[in-house]
Amino acid sequence: MNTWNTTQGNDVATVLLAGPKPRTDVWQTALSNDPRFRVTAITNDAKDLIVKLSSKPDVVLMDAGMFNAPDAFISALRTMTEDIYAVIPAMPPNDEQAVRSQLTGLAHLKGLYSVDINLQTLMEKIFADTRASKLANGPGAWGAMAGGNGHRPVTARIITVWNSAGGVGKTTIASSLAYLASQRGYPTLLVGMGSSPDDLPMMLRLSPEPNLGHWPQNPTLEGLRVITQKVGSMDVLGGFLDDMAAGQMLGINRDAPGSFHSLINTAIRQYAVVVIDTPPSSNAALALSVSNHLVLVGTPTISVAMRTAEAYRMVFERMVGMHSLSQTTSYLALNRAGRGLDPSQWHRLAADAVGGKFLPLIATIPDNDAVIAAQNERVLPTERNEAFRQALMPLAGALFAENYGGNGNGNGKVKNILGVKVRY
Ligand SMILES: Nc1ncnc2c1ncn2[C@@H]1O[C@H](COP(=O)(O)OP(=O)(O)OP(=O)(O)O)[C@@H](O)[C@H]1O
Ligand SMILES: [Mg+2]
Repeated sequence: MNTWNTTQGNDVATVLLAGPKPRTDVWQTALSNDPRFRVTAITNDAKDLIVKLSSKPDVVLMDAGMFNAPDAFISALRTMTEDIYAVIPAMPPNDEQAVRSQLTGLAHLKGLYSVDINLQTLMEKIFADTRASKLANGPGAWGAMAGGNGHRPVTARIITVWNSAGGVGKTTIASSLAYLASQRGYPTLLVGMGSSPDDLPMMLRLSPEPNLGHWPQNPTLEGLRVITQKVGSMDVLGGFLDDMAAGQMLGINRDAPGSFHSLINTAIRQYAVVVIDTPPSSNAALALSVSNHLVLVGTPTISVAMRTAEAYRMVFERMVGMHSLSQTTSYLALNRAGRGLDPSQWHRLAADAVGGKFLPLIATIPDNDAVIAAQNERVLPTERNEAFRQALMPLAGALFAENYGGNGNGNGKVKNILGVKVRY
């Protein structure tokens, strides 16, 4: 059940390998052992690169060491239009900075790595990016936003806000994040998948109907427009009223119109950002399977640290191959901080429980009575409380940065959070 149906174009990423032979040999071995990838061509010679591009790969995985000078590498990247992930050889920091700054703004450069990045991590990212961008075929919302600059559309960000623990602030953070995205100008859809009856409409002063349960009746863009409600410029689709409605829709085959998958595939033609408020229940698997970004929300107790570790394991160990999520596009947010464990202690506990390697803690959101007060008035806490809003900024920055996929070359600040360099 963990294998992809390789007859579906969306499930295989085609790759051109370019670099010195020892490097392409290693890459070729790794990729040929992974059914999600197909190597269309290999080149060890810069002069041969343009010819090999005629194999029309989705992605070029490149080691800049194949060029005899950085300038040759830079001009080759500028003439290409394929999505590129490139490793550059070690060089003095100033020289590296010069190379990076000359590549700023190249939308098809999806990753530029100067350190020896873990190949498995890179492959997860390449696969996740490629699959999501195929799902988002057509000009889509990103194409529209890009102003027709000739670049291919950047992938819609489909963000699951989740934990297997209840009451940690998933709905609070999902709705605030979505609202922040809409304020940055992204066409944004917030989807309530919370346990039924979904409390999202209540929290946002919206009507509980129409909602997700109405999607199968008219599973088209127009049908979607009819069942969403507005909060500012953000569109909101409330969740199910009862478990019966949830069960009915969740039972629809994923490839059939009316399924949750079809909803998301339709939504990303219209929206640049889709945020899913995801429940602790087994319905979470559905949201996880359509998303390309994950935010795990925790609170500072030992039990939630363990739950968060468990949620991480569920996604990155047990569900491997069932989703397009990658560790590089997944984050932790610690909510209600200041009451229990301190953030580094909490992070260490959870990291230990997953064997050391864990997601970066990118936002620490203080426990704050103003959040409860705002919600009691059914107003988004980001609108009422500046401290809450500020605390979400690193997370919003990572999720909604313009240079999608983060090539390590953003203009944002880098903060070292618990040993992890986070750019925002
Ligand atoms: N930073 C915070 N400071 C104070 N209270 C908070 C904070 N974040 C959330 N809360 C409160 O915690 C409660 C639970 O929040 P929320 O409903 O967002 O959690 P949830 O994870 O979605 O819960 P469920 O699992 O029931 O869906 C709410 O009453 C909310 O007001
Ligand atoms: Mg909730």
